[in-house]
This record gives sequence, structure tokens and C-alpha cells, in this order.
Amino acid sequence: MQKLKFTIYSLIVLILGFSSCIISSEKNTNSANLDKAIEKKVDSVLELMTIDEKVGQMVQYSAGWDLTGPASSKSAQDKLDKIEKGLVGSVLNVVSVKEVRAAQELAMKSRLKIPLIFAYDVIHGLKTMFPTPLGESASWDLELIRQSAAIAAKESAAAGLNWTFAPMVDVSRDARWGRIMEGGGEDPYLSAEIGVARIKGFQGDDLADANTIAACAKHFAGYGFAEAGRDYNTVTAGEFELHNMILPPFRAAAKAGVATFMNSFNDIDGIPATGHKVLQRDILKGDWNWNGFVVSDWGSIGEMRAHGYAKDKKHAAEIALNAGSDMDMESYAYEASLKELLSEKKVSEAHINDAVKRILRLKFQLGLFDNPFKYCDEEKEKNNIYTKEHLAVSRDAARKSIVLLKNENSILPVSKNVKSIALIGPFADNKDMPIGNWRAKGVYNSAVSLLEGVKNKVGKNTKIYYEKGIDLLIPTVKPGDNQFLHPLKINKNNRTGISKAVAAARKAEIVFLAIGEDAYQSGEGRSQVNIGFAGLQNELLEAIYKVNKNIVLILSNGRPMDISRANEIVPGILVTWQLGSESGNGIADVVFGDYNPAGKLPVSFPRNVGQEPLYYNQKNTGRPYNPKNVTYSSYTDEKKSALFPFGFGLSYTNFSYDNLKVNKEKMELNDEIIISVEVSNTGKVSGEEVVQLYIRDLVASIVRPVKELKGFQKIYLNAGETKTVSFTINKDVLEFYTANRKWEVEPGEFLLFVGGNSTTKMNKKITVN
Ligand code: NOJ
Repeated sequence: MQKLKFTIYSLIVLILGFSSCIISSEKNTNSANLDKAIEKKVDSVLELMTIDEKVGQMVQYSAGWDLTGPASSKSAQDKLDKIEKGLVGSVLNVVSVKEVRAAQELAMKSRLKIPLIFAYDVIHGLKTMFPTPLGESASWDLELIRQSAAIAAKESAAAGLNWTFAPMVDVSRDARWGRIMEGGGEDPYLSAEIGVARIKGFQGDDLADANTIAACAKHFAGYGFAEAGRDYNTVTAGEFELHNMILPPFRAAAKAGVATFMNSFNDIDGIPATGHKVLQRDILKGDWNWNGFVVSDWGSIGEMRAHGYAKDKKHAAEIALNAGSDMDMESYAYEASLKELLSEKKVSEAHINDAVKRILRLKFQLGLFDNPFKYCDEEKEKNNIYTKEHLAVSRDAARKSIVLLKNENSILPVSKNVKSIALIGPFADNKDMPIGNWRAKGVYNSAVSLLEGVKNKVGKNTKIYYEKGIDLLIPTVKPGDNQFLHPLKINKNNRTGISKAVAAARKAEIVFLAIGEDAYQSGEGRSQVNIGFAGLQNELLEAIYKVNKNIVLILSNGRPMDISRANEIVPGILVTWQLGSESGNGIADVVFGDYNPAGKLPVSFPRNVGQEPLYYNQKNTGRPYNPKNVTYSSYTDEKKSALFPFGFGLSYTNFSYDNLKVNKEKMELNDEIIISVEVSNTGKVSGEEVVQLYIRDLVASIVRPVKELKGFQKIYLNAGETKTVSFTINKDVLEFYTANRKWEVEPGEFLLFVGGNSTTKMNKKITVN
């Protein structure tokens, strides 16, 4: 027996050793051959595996201190035993070189010594925290987004990890949904571009690089369309909505070579995504020809029982595997039943082999077979995490993510020699809120607060009066606690600090009012029916307004909020999301004019929560407008438009758009048209502008949106400078998933819009023959 073990192991080492010679000689020359070499290795390992070992590769356990889902009854010892027997493919929530090494050492005791992959939710940074993903999306700066993901990857790899459950590319149109903070907003094109930038950042050009990690496009699919914005809720998107609005970012992720996908908790039109064969086998692995593997979401295989789609866990395992879910995260369904299901011929060995091959492929691509401890480098863990350089990029990301919504009488920027500032509100000196939700190893209370950022900026003669005014939350969570177990408690009674805040506001030249949402008001399981200012924040706003009208609202938010009342009364509004480690410095850069804000909203801000879901790329309806009576698609008590639309954001300078031109008005299907516009900086300071291209397909085989974003360019203009910006209109821009059930361009008329936000009216009409 001992001898047999030795022989099998030597055989693997031989095969691996031999093929890694082939790899290193081919690596830089021919990536097609590299794939073939990996395939050979995968097959050779697969051949050695028993059915138990194969099923084991399809199992993922949560084994760490950070619980990111409901706890299971499985004991830690049981999990460790399984790892040692080679019956586990991956673990999540084990972070740090020490812990990873310990788990990997156990895996190395198993018969075939197949390494584990280590996954974690690194959503907006590991320890150096960047703005939450929705916030960072407001930068519309793809290179910055790539860079922040690359830093997150570098820090994760240094902490022993090799797989992140990011990016979330769920298009989300509903501000009530707590997880809107995790994605790229309401538009499929922008979400796709941002998702791909994040994937490139995490994975780099080479997964084998020791500073890159595997990414995961999630949640496949439809999770962002949860009815009424309630997390985990039903999704009823129709076929065309699915293809044209929900799937494009996933398709782009697959095309960009994302290593893994995660499916989702929701059902779509009655079929749970985890058991959705059309999505996973037919579209993702079939039509898109994608070679990575699909991990279930936490317990989502088992949850098909609660959906009423599987009669027991065994049935759930059968459905999930047949539908194309390759790895079971925390349902314990595959390990319990796949072998039996195979003997009963309810699942096929071909499907099991396919899943295992996909998982092994990634382990080879990451270089884990060559060195299972490749990511276990204490030196890197000491030197590559939370560095000065990373914090500098975080500050840049913070200021670039800020959106200026209102700037009456140029209240901003404020002079650094201003006589006095009252800094008021629960977030004025808050060092934790900016770390945001999904904070990985981000440290409690570690961000630069607004107060600190302001102090770093102003001269000695500026008086700063800081008053919290109120607490937004009554603390229920201690640092390090599992936040999923704690409902938030909002302070509704204690208003003792308001009078002091009023006194401070009364004596100051200008007020910075820092209110909005705390970190844990958005994120998983944090859906809300109210998206206005919770607790006593409205009272604080009104009280301050009574004594000082010179207010800049510095909004903290994970989601679009209802800020209608504040918008009526305050002259300055900055959207500052949860901006990460350098939050206060980033905001101060903008407030005092060292950085001219250029962020644009990736989501519409409503006038009232009753408008949700609200999105610019809506359909026209049969009754878009009738000023003479009420029988058109609107509300009787509120306008139907957004308070601040998608793509909107001001600057300290002004931009004008002139001379919109097309090089021709007609084109054949495979031809192209160039549309160009002159953008001028007509103000007194230099600045950046995001020039946006939208189209409208006027008549089509299915109803098309009134506008769809199809391109954007972020340009820098000196004061007085003009630049010509052009976009190419071709098949990729004009096609959609048509009534023929394929992506194609339908001949006819299109409007091409260009401008600085989604309400632009400047357009040219073209005809496609
Ligand atoms: C559940 C979440 O939906 C998913 O996004 C996350 O990656 C997993 N838990 C793992 O923490």
C-alpha cells in the first residue's frame, strides 16, 4: 500500500515536473500551447483520482474567523480531517500566511497532494481600503479601477490568498437593495467596462504571477434585479431583459477571461440561478465557450429546498450539478450525495469530470501544483500590505470618486484661509464609516476622518468647530464581530448634542454637514425601504439650517439616497460614498480645490423612494407624456425624472459641447460612422470631463430603451482649451439581443446622443441599411 502511494505520487511529480519544463519554455511564445500543456496535466491528474477525490475537489468550506454567511453545524475538526484526506478543493475565509500554510500543509498530507485554493471576499481592498465599488465606479476611470484591483490582489496574494469573490457585476437599478454598493451601478455597458477593468486588475496578464489572484464574476445571474430591492428576493426578468440588461457584464467578464463565476441566490422566473441549466451550461459554458468554473453562492445549493425546487439536499445536489454548478460552497450537498447520485445514474461522470477539470485547470494556472506554498511568503506579508504607495493610490481613488451635485454661488472650493468652519454630523470625525461594508481585513476605525483631512489642509488661522450633533447608530457590534448577526439600531431619541452643534454652526463662516449612511446600512442583507436620512439626521439638518445657510452637505452613502429636502435648502452637495482608508484626505482635496471633482453618478438619485427601481435606460411606454391630463406614465404627486440623473456630476469649471458631427448619415450593416463633438473648458480652472455617448434605436423588433450608454471618454482640459472627441459607431455599438434570439443589428434609424450626462439632448440621426 505504502509502495503504491509512493508510486502514484512519483508519477504525478514526474508528469508535473516534465510538463512544467514544457510550460516554462513555451510561456512567452505561445499561449495556445500553454493551454494544451495545462490540459495534459489536468487530464493526467484526473486519471489518478478516485470518485471521492473528484467530488472532494468540488467542495468548498468556510474555515476561517470571518463568517460571511450563516454558520454551519459542521465542526472545524471535521473540516480539517476532510482536507487531510484530500476531500476538499477550496476553503474560504482563511486569511494570513500562517493560517493558509497550516491548511495547505494538511492538504499536502493527502494521497494526491492536490493543493487547495484560498478564497476571500476582497471587494474593495484587502487592508488598504479603496472606495466601495459603486463609489469607485463614479470615477469612470478604468485605469484607476484596474490599479486599485491590482493593489487589492497584491495585498491578498501577500496574505496567502489566491482567489477573490469579486467583481460583482450585477446591474442594479434599485436603491433599496443593500448590495447596490458592491457593483458598477445601473447601466450594463458601464458595469461591463468596470467589471473588466477589475478583472484585469486582479488577474493581471498572467495568473501564475505571484502578485495576481483569480477573480470571480458574480452573481450569475439576475441578483441585482431582486423584486422591491429586497435581498435574495425573486427576479422576474423576461428573456430579452435578461440578455440585454443583466447578462452583458457577465458576457464581457467571460470574454476577458475571468477565472471563475459565482451563481446567485435568487430564482429567475421560477428557476433558482444555482439550478439554472440554460444560464450555466447552455449560455456560459456553451454559447460563450468559457473554461473557468462556477462556484455556488454560500449554501445556495441547499437553499433550493427552501425555494421549493428540490425536495431534499440530495435532490438539490443533482439539480445543481446537472445545471452546471461546479463547486459547492457551504451546502455540504455534493460531498453527501454526488457519489450516490452517480451510482443511481442521476448525474453523469462526464459532468463530474468536467467540473473537476475546470477546478484543476485553475490550480495549474495559478502555479499551485508547482508550489502549493507559493502565496505563503511572510516577507511579502510584512512588506506588501498597507504600504505608503497603496495608500497614495487609495487617496487618488477617493478624490476621483467624489461627485459634486450642487455648487450654488460657487460655495466650493473653500479657501484654505477661511476664518472658521463648523464640522458637524455623525460622520464628521468618523474613522470607521469610510472603511465601508465588505471590508476584508480593513481595520476598524482606521480611515482618515473628515476632521483629520480638513485639519491637514487648512492654515493655522482657521478655526474649526467640531460637533457630532447626534449619533446615528446605537452601537450593537463590537469590532471584529460578525456583522451579519446584528441588526442595526438607529438612534431615534438622544438629541442632546444638537444644541451644541447649532451653537457651532452659528459662529462659523461655513458648515460642513457630514450625514448620510453608515458602513453597514448597505451591503449583503442590508436592504431598506427608506433611503432618506435615518434617525435624527433630518432634525439636525433643519436645526443647523435655521442658524447658518452656508452649508456643504458631505454625503456618506453606499446607495443612491433621497436627498430632496437637503437639495432644496443647502447650496453645496458632495457625494462621498464610503471612500476607504484615505477618505478624509480625499474629501479635503476636493473641498479646498486641490483636486477639481470629476465624478459622475453611476446610478440615478431619486426624488423619492417611491420611484424605485429608477434608471435612465427605461423604455418609452405607449404613454410617455401628456401635459393635458393624468393618463400618461408618471406620478400625480412627484415628477418621474431623477433628482440627479445617471452620468451627472459637476466640476469647478464649465464645459460646453459644440459642433456635433457625423462623417456620414447612412451606413451599411458592417460599415461604421464616426461621430465627433468639440468639448471646451469655458471656465477658469483646468478639469476633467466624462464625455458620454448614448444611442436610441427608434424602431426595433423588441422595444428598446430611450437611451443606452455605448461609450465614454474621460478627458482633461486646461482652462480655455477645446478638444475634439470622437466615437466610432459600428456593429458592436448598435447590436442587441433581438426577437430572432441573437445579437444583431437591425437596419433602421438610430439617434446618437453625446453629452455630459444621460439627459443630454444633443443628437444626430443616422440610418443603417
Ligand atoms: C454570500 C455572498 O452573496 C457572496 O457574494 C459572497 O462571496 C459569499 N457569501 C462568500 O462570502
